[in-house]
Amino acid sequence: MQQRGNFSSKLGVILATAGSAVGLGNIWRFPYEAGSSGGGSFLLLYLLFVLLLGVPVILAEFVVGRSSQRNASAAFQVLAPNTPWHWVGKMGVLTGLLINGFYAVVTGWTFAYLFKSLTGGLMESGVDYQTLFDKMTSDTWAPIGWMLVVMLVAHTIIRKGVSGGIERASKILMPLLLVVMLVLSVHSCMLAGAPEGLKFLFYPDFSKITPTVAFRALGQAFFSLSLGMGCLITYSSYFKQDVDLQRSALQIALLDTLVAIIAGIIIFPAVFTFGVEPEAGPGLVFKVLPNVFAQMGYPFVWSSLFYLLLSIAALTSLISLHEVVTAYVSETWHVSRRWASWSVVGVVSVLGVFSSLSFGLLKDVQLFGRTFFDWLDFITSSVFLPLGGMLISIFVAWKLDRSRLENELAGKGRYAKAVLPFLIFILRYIAPVAIFVIFITSIIGA
Ligand code: PFF
Repeated sequence: MQQRGNFSSKLGVILATAGSAVGLGNIWRFPYEAGSSGGGSFLLLYLLFVLLLGVPVILAEFVVGRSSQRNASAAFQVLAPNTPWHWVGKMGVLTGLLINGFYAVVTGWTFAYLFKSLTGGLMESGVDYQTLFDKMTSDTWAPIGWMLVVMLVAHTIIRKGVSGGIERASKILMPLLLVVMLVLSVHSCMLAGAPEGLKFLFYPDFSKITPTVAFRALGQAFFSLSLGMGCLITYSSYFKQDVDLQRSALQIALLDTLVAIIAGIIIFPAVFTFGVEPEAGPGLVFKVLPNVFAQMGYPFVWSSLFYLLLSIAALTSLISLHEVVTAYVSETWHVSRRWASWSVVGVVSVLGVFSSLSFGLLKDVQLFGRTFFDWLDFITSSVFLPLGGMLISIFVAWKLDRSRLENELAGKGRYAKAVLPFLIFILRYIAPVAIFVIFITSIIGA
């Protein structure tokens, strides 16, 4: 067996895992999903799902990963040999590839905006940001070029292994992102549309809670927490024995949720101030934010700093998606990390080309009203991730050896055991049933 890496410190663990969780999901996807699904009611369900289902499923993945010390698929083979459970891990690896296929494109957009900002093209007076976004994304070559740049950067970091590349990058940049976002949110709260925007985000209109909104909020919660596809299995397989799984799970969920809410506080006041539709979809953040920067002192500095940090947050998440597949390929076929990573770059680039063209050349190639990009996003976030989360909960609560579960969760006696029965109850009954019911009702309602 090949030598496997480890995260070198407890802080590194939190930061790398939070680096995976915090990304475009919080800052790009959360606002547009909330915007399309009624704001406050979406937020309420999202918070409920993060707490009730997200935290327990994070713990379930942690247990599988750390106790097996294997990649997402091999973990199940070690814990339940000669059973079909490894297919759950394999589905996760496939999901990782598919998410990668559109995530790299959106990360490419942030790189492009960073470049535009640094070269002065973004903050020129008189730019219409809605048109700018549509023009940029509908172009054939430039977004594909940026996507390829992104993949090469991710590859370079991945090749360096776990603690050298992934951990070091997260350590410095995550806290900085939070600071810049806080400044932006204060600024947004002073815009003319702030009362309306904040009301939209925080006031839950109960009549807007439908099975479809619940379905989307569940998908968003899983997507944002990097849950349901073995990403956290893979990362926790690098955790040392002294990492407190319960505390780490809570910290990551809280931080991730906080960033999403701050993103909402930045975006929605601006949405109502600058007359952008909250339902604008994947372009929302890109169309709204430059208006906010333009109103601030030193717009060039703010926009460049923001897109730099967003690019990095996106990269740390992209790397985690990449790592799931790389670890699987390298450990399954006994090839070096380098070659495993190259093969991921190859497959993802092909998917990325089609995703990118979904905004231009292939815009009208749709199946049931969805482009290739939309399908990748929908099928992964709304179907595969919750399904994966449901199966992982079932595995951990029903199949895994109980003493192994207790030992991992309670840190071999070092940490509180009090919540264990509650947690196991959620994983056994609540999580699988809730996810199943949300699936079925939304399919019936659709
Ligand atoms: N959680 C990441 C985000 O919010 O941007 C996206 C993601 C990363 C999803 C890793 C799934 C995953 F395994």
